[in-house]
Amino acid sequence: MKSNIASMIAVAGLTFAGSALAVDMPAEGKAKCGACHAIDRKVMGPSWMDVSKKYKGDPAAAAKIAANITKGGAFGWKSGNMPPKGMNASDAEIKKLSSFIAGLAK
Ligand code: HEC
Repeated sequence: MKSNIASMIAVAGLTFAGSALAVDMPAEGKAKCGACHAIDRKVMGPSWMDVSKKYKGDPAAAAKIAANITKGGAFGWKSGNMPPKGMNASDAEIKKLSSFIAGLAK
């Protein structure tokens, strides 16, 4: 399983290196979330742009997203369960990534 995750990260990294996205995933995101998430497309979890659209216009978006990342589980995307804190993200990293995700769809 460990090597499986490592190869998934390698694949996600390669895909990102070759993409022409205006916004790139922050380094913390690539390291701790990139195996299952991308900004512009579904991987195992929903694309972060889709998550951002779900919360668009909600002033508490970043706080709600941070709470969900911290507790993990299912949030209605029907793509399985997210592990709490992704791959061991710290609270500070979760806060930063939540604001990043909340800001994508503006
Ligand atoms: C092992 C795979 C995996 C990892 C690693 C992972 N996620 Fe997820 N994530 C998922 C899945 C699967 C879902 C969708 C669950 C569902 O079907 O509702 C999800 C859902 C989400 C959502 C949607 C929350 C909502 O309110 O709708 C956000 C935001 C998110 N992840 C952020 C992150 C961040 C940030 C990280 C890194 C710290 C991360 N994820 C790491 C699998 C993962």
